[in-house]
Amino acid sequence: MRKVVIAGNWKMNKTPKEAVEFLRELGEVKVNDSMRVIICSTNLCLQPLLHHKKGDVEIAAQNMHFEDSGAFTGEVSTKMLKAVGVNISVIGHSERREYFAETDEALNKKVLKAAEEDFDVILCVGETLEQREKEIHKEHVKNQIVSDLKNLKEEDLKRVIIAYEPIWAIGTGKTATSEQAEEMCLFIRNVVEELYSKEAADNTSILYGGSVKPANVKELMSMENIDGALIGGASLKADSFLELIHYDK
Ligand code: PGA
Repeated sequence: MRKVVIAGNWKMNKTPKEAVEFLRELGEVKVNDSMRVIICSTNLCLQPLLHHKKGDVEIAAQNMHFEDSGAFTGEVSTKMLKAVGVNISVIGHSERREYFAETDEALNKKVLKAAEEDFDVILCVGETLEQREKEIHKEHVKNQIVSDLKNLKEEDLKRVIIAYEPIWAIGTGKTATSEQAEEMCLFIRNVVEELYSKEAADNTSILYGGSVKPANVKELMSMENIDGALIGGASLKADSFLELIHYDK
């Protein structure tokens, strides 16, 4: 059965010292088998985080390249990440799509590479405000998923967590309503069912992201098709991240 995933996306924040301090404040995190708690940090903080983490927190990258090595200045491969103990990365975040021209074609290569390497990805999809206002958001998100998962075998879909992040809700304080988020997460599950099978769709964790915070996480998580959250701003402080992890308390 699909897992609940609470993932903090630190973006370009925290020095290694600050990252370790965060872990000290977080303490030992214990979760049961049905949940994953993940911190997505810059590459610079990955090793200090892995070294100092206590309990069940997983450490993830925010990007990976689809080649193993070569002339790709500024990039890091899955092989390199795995060599230091990182087995998961965010890919396709809207900031990378927008500011760093990450394409669906490149994302598809990353998804296939991850599957080949037994490496997990949190694949982000989501529409702009303009697309929502034009009511083409579903079509857009479907196109992203169809392109990004092209040629991925059903047995490898277990490597993919999907995060629905409407761009207009990221870092804006403007959260999608839980109904809007649920509608899109259900829509995405149906797309996965169309592409694969009902079983595959039922087993895929689909997260919502965009201004999730302790005050709204419980309501979002009460929705049937929202299996977790990808959290930016509110994941940067240990006390707030702890509240998000323990949203059901
Ligand atoms: P936010 O960011 O929680 O700060 O809106 C979410 C994200 O970009 O993943």
